[in-house]
This record gives sequence, structure tokens and C-alpha cells, in this order.
Amino acid sequence: MKKIILLLVSMVFLAACNHYQERPQWDYMGDFDMYYSKAYESYSPNPYMPDGKTLQTVPEGSIARDAAPYPFKDKLADRKKAGAQLKNPIPMDAKNLARGKLMYNIYCAVCHGKDGMGVATKDTTTLFKKKLYPIPPANLNTDLVRGYPDGEIYHVITMGSAVMGAHGSQIRPADRWRIVNYIKNGFKVK
Ligand code: HEC
Repeated sequence: MKKIILLLVSMVFLAACNHYQERPQWDYMGDFDMYYSKAYESYSPNPYMPDGKTLQTVPEGSIARDAAPYPFKDKLADRKKAGAQLKNPIPMDAKNLARGKLMYNIYCAVCHGKDGMGVATKDTTTLFKKKLYPIPPANLNTDLVRGYPDGEIYHVITMGSAVMGAHGSQIRPADRWRIVNYIKNGFKVK
């Protein structure tokens, strides 16, 4: 008896599966608006827009919310200029340092190591130590790097430095400054 019930139940469910994919069979919730959206899809034609498209091009000169235009180019001269002109707006307190550490460990430690020591790092998880990235990452836990103006390190994060890639599109400006603070504080959270 159980087997017969199971057979009947599965017949009901399998009835929805057929090879006419362009002509769906029964919809359990087909009458609800949210099942078949009445809104125009991004790439569908749109009779209400002058150019007939749903997705509109952003007006020229638009920038993303919170995004400030960055005037410095990926050149050594601009790195120095950024160092001279940019001011770090983020105070070096325990909360910002903790956030800087978190961001550093996510975005930078894979290459420079959790202790920042680059090639000399004790962190065995870096790409360089695992022979997955051939270029020796710089040691950031040095007086040389701590001596750079904040804006210069901010610039390297934003635009990259020689072989190091830019991280400006991944990390928000405030978090970039927090990473700067964490590096300048010798990889310590107060
Ligand atoms: C994919 C690996 C990689 C990642 C990820 C990476 N770096 Fe680098 N970084 C390098 C390499 C390699 C160099 C050395 C570049 C050179 O000398 O041309 C470098 C150089 C630097 C320098 C310049 C040091 C100097 O004395 O000029 C700074 C500062 C720096 N990185 C900070 C960071 C920070 C902060 C992050 C995280 C936001 C980061 N890096 C992420 C590979 C990386």
C-alpha cells in the first residue's frame, strides 16, 4: 500500500517535468506578481524611455556614492606628491587599529605576511612562501616604511607600486587609512 501511495505521489510531481521547456506546465504560485515580475528587466526593451532601453547610461561625470575622485597617477612622482598632499583623516585609536588589522589581514597578508615582514615573514601562509607568487614582497615592518608619509602608503594601496597591483577598487578610502595606521603603528593594535 505504501509503495502505491509513493508511486502516485511521485507521478503527480513528475507530471511537471516534460520536454516542452518553452511551454511550462502547472505553476504552483503562478498567479502571484512576484513569481513573474511585472517590472522591466535591466536588458529588456522599454517603451517609456526615450531611447527604448530599460537600463540607462549614467550621466557623464557621475561618481559612485562615497567615491572621491583620486587625482594622482600610478607614477613614482605622483606617489611622492600624494605623500606630501594627502592628510590622514582617521585617528589612530584602538578601534581603528583593530579594523586596520582586519583589513590588512584580508587584503595584504597573503603577500606581505601577517607580521608585514615580506620575504622575512614568519607567516608560512603567504603566496611567496608557498611558491605561488614569484616576486619578493617588500618588508613593511621597517623604519623605512614607517617613515613614509601616510599619504604615500595610502597611494601605494590605492594605485599599487611597480609590480604590486592597485587595491583602490577593493578597499574603501577610510579602511585604506586604517591599514596605513596599522602599518605605521608597527603591526600592533595599541
Ligand atoms: C599580490 C601580492 C601583494 C599584495 C596582495 C599586496 N602587496 Fe604590497 N607589495 C607587493 C610587492 C611584490 C611589493 C614590492 C614592489 C616593488 O618593489 O616593486 C610591494 C610593495 C609594497 C609597498 C612599498 C614598499 C616600499 O618600500 O616601497 C607598500 C607600502 C605595500 N606593498 C603595501 C601593501 C598593502 C598595505 C597591501 C594591502 C592593501 C599590499 N601591499 C598588498 C606585493 C603585494
